[in-house]
This record gives sequence, C-alpha cells and structure tokens, in this order.
Amino acid sequence: MALSRQQEEEGAWSENFKSHHDSKPRGNEAISLDIAFPDADHVYGIPEHTDNFYLKTTTSGEPYRLYNLDVFEYELDSRMAIYGAIPVLYSHGPKRSAGVFWHNAAETWVDVVNYADGTVVSSLVNLVTGGHQRRVDARFMSEAGVIDVFVFLGDKPADVFRQYTALTGAAPLPPRFSLAYHQSRWNYVDEPDVRAVDDGFDAHDIPADAIWLDIEYTDRKKYFTWDMEKFPHPAEMVANLTAKGRKLIVIIDPHIKREAGYFVHEDATEQGLYVKDKDGKDYEGWCWPGSSSYLDFFNPEVVKYYAERFQFNNFPGTSKDVHIWNDMNEPSVFNGPEITMPKDCRHYKAPQDGQDGIAAFWEHRHVHNEYGLRHISGTHQGMIDRSNGKYRPFILTRSVFAGTQRYAAVWTGDNAAEWGFLQASVPMCISLAVSGISFCGSDVGGFFKYPEAELMTRWYQAGAYQAFFRAHSHIETKRREPWLYDAATTARIRDAVRRRYALLDFWYTLFYEHSIDGLPVMRPLFQEYPKEQETYTIDNEYLLGDKLLVRPVMEAGVTSVKVYLPGKESQTIWYDVDSYHAYPANGYMNVDVNIAKVPVFQRGGSIVPRKERVRRAAALMAHDPYTLVVALDPQAKAEGSLYIDDGETYDYVSNKFIYAKITYEPAVMKYTFVNENASYPTRSWVERVVIAGIKTPPKSAKLSQGGKQIPLQMTLHRGNNVLVIRKPSASMASPWEIHFTY
Ligand code: GLC
Repeated sequence: MALSRQQEEEGAWSENFKSHHDSKPRGNEAISLDIAFPDADHVYGIPEHTDNFYLKTTTSGEPYRLYNLDVFEYELDSRMAIYGAIPVLYSHGPKRSAGVFWHNAAETWVDVVNYADGTVVSSLVNLVTGGHQRRVDARFMSEAGVIDVFVFLGDKPADVFRQYTALTGAAPLPPRFSLAYHQSRWNYVDEPDVRAVDDGFDAHDIPADAIWLDIEYTDRKKYFTWDMEKFPHPAEMVANLTAKGRKLIVIIDPHIKREAGYFVHEDATEQGLYVKDKDGKDYEGWCWPGSSSYLDFFNPEVVKYYAERFQFNNFPGTSKDVHIWNDMNEPSVFNGPEITMPKDCRHYKAPQDGQDGIAAFWEHRHVHNEYGLRHISGTHQGMIDRSNGKYRPFILTRSVFAGTQRYAAVWTGDNAAEWGFLQASVPMCISLAVSGISFCGSDVGGFFKYPEAELMTRWYQAGAYQAFFRAHSHIETKRREPWLYDAATTARIRDAVRRRYALLDFWYTLFYEHSIDGLPVMRPLFQEYPKEQETYTIDNEYLLGDKLLVRPVMEAGVTSVKVYLPGKESQTIWYDVDSYHAYPANGYMNVDVNIAKVPVFQRGGSIVPRKERVRRAAALMAHDPYTLVVALDPQAKAEGSLYIDDGETYDYVSNKFIYAKITYEPAVMKYTFVNENASYPTRSWVERVVIAGIKTPPKSAKLSQGGKQIPLQMTLHRGNNVLVIRKPSASMASPWEIHFTY
C-alpha cells in the first residue's frame, strides 16, 4: 500500500510539539551545505553556546544549535541554543585561516568533525592518506531560506575576522560612560532605593556610571510608562544621577501588554503593528505583563512608530542621560513552543509584484533569529532621533544575530552565582568578539543564587577586564551591593572597579580602533600569535587589543594559576602590571595569587594610558591627567595610541577628536596626531611616564612642546628596572616630544 505524502515525510507538512502545532504552510524548505577546512587545527565561532571557545566534534551527540531562545537556567559546557545566534564559523591552523558566514536567520544546526579527534570518518581518511590529516569539516543545516554563503580567506585570524566585520559592520564608538561600571538589580524598587544605592557608591568611594531599572519601574509592565507610586519624579531622579556624572538605564522589552487604554496597545491594534498568527490575527502570547502581543519590527511603519516613543515628550522623565536595555527579544513567549513565538506566525514583508497568499509575508520561521536585531535597530533609531542626532545611544540586548554590534552591547543572560558560570563568561565573550560583538560581559556575581565573598571578589576582578561590566541579580536573591559584604571584600571590589576606571581611556581607545579596523577588542591569544599552536585551545585567558594579557582567577581557593605567555619566537617580554616585573614569553608559568591578585600583563613594546585619580564617575575624570606606562621590548622600544573626545556626542564625526600615536625609543618619546585635521580641546596632561624594563637609564630628559624646552625630573627604581618621569606636564591637546641624553 502506497504511503501518503504525509506519512512519507513525517513532520514535513505539519508538526506537533508538546501542545503546540506548527502548520508549516510551505512544507519542507530545509537547506544544507558541507564545507571542508583544509589545514585547520580547530574551528571557532557560531555563538552563542556555553562550551569551549574551540568547537568540538559533534558526531557523538547533538550538533551546535542556533535558535534564539530564552532558556531558563541554561546549562554549562553545552551546544544547546541560548539567546543568540551568529552563523559565522572560522577555521585556523599554522598555515592559514578561513571563515564562513552562513547568512540565514532560520533555525540552524552545525555539525563539526575535527579529523584530529579520531572519529570513524577521520580514521578512515587518515588510513587512506597514510597520516594525520589537518582538517575540520562543518555542515550547516537551516530549516528554511536560501543558501547565501560568504567565504573569507586569509593568512591569519585577523584577516578573516576583519572580513566578517567589513561585511556585517563594526560597532560604532560607544558613549564613554558605557565602558565604565554599571550597577543593576531586578529591581531597585523605588526612588529612595535608587538614591540610596547611588549614595552608597559615594559613601564607599566606589566609582559607578549607571544605575539600572528593571521591569518593575513601569506601570504594570507597560513600557514607556512609570509606576507613579514608586517613581513619581523620574526627571528629578535622573537629575540626581546626572549631577554626579551618572546615567540611568531603563528596560524596554518588545512585548506589549494587551490592556484597553494602554496607548501602545491601542495604537498597535488600530494601526496593525503586531506580529500576526498563522490565520492573520494579532498574535497573543504570555510574557511579563500577562497577555501580550509583539511589535512586528520587520515593518518599517512599526519601526517608525516605535522609534517615536523614545522622543523625550513621548517618554516623560527621560533625557539624553537615560539609556536603554532591550531584553526578552528572542522573542521570549512564556507559553510558546520552547518559550518563543510559533514558527508559523506572520511578519510583514515588503510588497512585491506577483507575491500574494503565503508569499506575501515572512513566516516567523524564516526570520526568527533576526527579531531581536530588528528590535534594537528600532531602539537605536529612536535614541538617535530623540536628540536630533547629537548624542550616541547605549543599548544592551540579550538576543543576538549577525550585525547586532552596530546597535548594542550584549550580555550573556541569566547565569548563576557559580564558579562555572564565571569561567564560561570568558569563552562566551571571546566567541562573540570574533563574531563581531566585542562589547560583551556577564552579570557580575551571577543572576540566580547568591555569590559568597570570594566568588563575588573574583567576579568583579574578572568583570573589570571584560568589555561590558555590570553587576545584576535576580529579584528573589539577597541584596549584594558591594558594601553589603565584609569590609575587606568591599575594599577588594573597590580595587577591582578602580582598576577598570584607571584603564577607561585605554578601553575607549580600543573601541575607537575597533570602529575603524573591525578587529575584536577582547582577543583570543591565537589572533596575535597565529603560529603558536598551544594558544589554539586557550580560553581562560585573552588579550585586550594587542597590549594587555588577562588571566582572571576563576577558581575557588587557589593560591596559584597557570598563565600562558605567548610570543617566544619574537622574544616577547610580559610585564606584570602590578610589580612591573618582566617575564620572558616561555609558554606556561605559575603565578602566585592571593585574593587581591589579578594576573594581568603588559606586552613589552606597548604603551598603555592610565588615569590614576579615580573619581565618582567617568565624566568627572574626562580632563584628568594621564600616566603613560611604557613597557619596553628587547630593543628598548614601545608604541601605543590614545583617543580623546567629548565622550558622548557625534562631534567626532566632524573631526572633534584626538587620535594620537605615542612612540618610545631610547633617544626620544613622541606624542603625535594620527589625523592632523582633527582636534579636541582636552585639558588633560601627562602627570607621569613610567618606563618598565629600562636597561640603560638616561642621564637627563627634556620636554619639548609648542617651542618650549623644559628639563624633567626622573627617578630610577633599580629593584625592578623602572624609570619614572614625574610631572612632565605635557598637554595632551598638542603634540610633544621628550628627548633623552645618555
Ligand atoms: C530576564 C533577564 C534578566 C532580567 C529579568 C527581568 O530574565 O535576562 O536580566 O532581570 O528578565 O526583566
């Protein structure tokens, strides 16, 4: 007896999943492609997952899954889908690097076979070819869409990472405050609470740049409104913060409460702005507000309407100093299949001749992974428009797709106060960084559960060296602002946060450079040391730019950690940033760590700008003086860069900035402008130059700036070969030179 088509292709023409039904109006549309990477030792990318940075052979078990989902208590060391999906995969080996961008926003699975892993296939190939084959194969499979593949080829990883950001965009320069420390909690409950937290930072002398308000600030989860009992004076509350140079960040989720009288719901219903169900009616799901519908950001009219909601008069209480957190944008639907939207929901599609019936709309299936990207791009538009293009917006998103970096920073979602989640934050962020998203961090302290003092300390120390640095916690956890711990722990947290502020201009410069060259800010070691095979699987340490090497302590109760120092072939020297002690690159070494120690090393040959006068917030430090840390290479040379602007506007686009190159050679240190047409009236100056690794100390030094010559004072610290030039007082507003005589 012949099988019906239905029976032949089980699930191809409609499918049931638990209590959910997927009508699959177009039937089976799946596509797949196999790609081989010759000469590859490993492959990387396809975030977001919680396992190692290098991808593993998937023949035993499930492939890596790319499907944006709000996963409750996500697992560690897993290939399961979580909030983000970036279908870019890179390969690397000593000979070459490559990359593949599989441009598809439908549910996607990726299988990986690394021939070094000794699978049946690879063993057979090795048997036939008579040796070990350096090769990795990947298979991309998507549920729908067309095959639209970009291939990147290069000699080294930086070549292919750069090609990917050339295609999908680099992150634009963020406002400077957003690289500083953020304090969040679900929830700061009312205005006095916000005030107390804000004051707490001052009372305990801990800098902070933003206080965050989670969903409870709204009138019963109606976004663009305030709970007027708890937050009766939002404008005043914001003014209190901005008086100290701080900002407020509020959450705006994409689901809209279905309540008569709520203006967004009424407008969306009347104007047809919601995502439709399979029958063409407004789709209704369940989220924080209860019964909700979802704005269809694929429709340009919706984006226009939504963007207008951010106008200051449409969202009273907000100002240029209120920035936005976009959460739940996978989208999260509590009663939907896998806690998201049914795949047969309908989205707007630009009308095309001859397309009607099912061809006249996108099914959610086709665009699922892109929903959050459309959400944040609408927010971005709204925030730019609200100041007529004057101020740069800051947005944080949970859902991630290719290109997210053009609009928002990303955090790794609902982690837990466990050492494993602290450890996972590093591979998760470097995997996002090579996939275009450098602005990444995890909830410091962990979202669920309560971090005891040691874990909290280590998390702050690690977070201080990750791009997005925010403490956040679940509504049902014990309060944990830094001063609620014992005094010693509070002091260590203060120290960690201050380390961040001292390096803020270094971070800002790195993000400026990323906006130009598209390269990751947080870098895997093999990006800079592509021939060094030991680095290929290291994912508990990383580089900031090409200058600092960070190996956070992420293990409980340890008194030493192993740190890999790369660059043996080029005779690289690494300087411990606390002691300036020099270590030759020689692979792994043990570093003693007490609870105060964070192993961070500066590469010999680099110059890092620091600001040592830490204040309440980044804005207050804008014109403070710099300490320039010069770490010498074996030829006694070094170079670095520094970017300075007003930190918040788009004026830099019309040349109101300074981008300087700083070079050191034994005879002269120079501060010169890379872009001579640009300038910015900074009042900052150099209060100290620290030269580490000095072998032959100069006898005298002279500053020359603007035609003047000024003799300088120097102190030599023989114990660690450090020469300090005190108060050279050179202004950063124009070029200068320091000449040395021997
Ligand atoms: C989600 C977010 C979390 C937030 C909560 C309430 O779980 O991931 O950060 O606190 O929603 O808005």
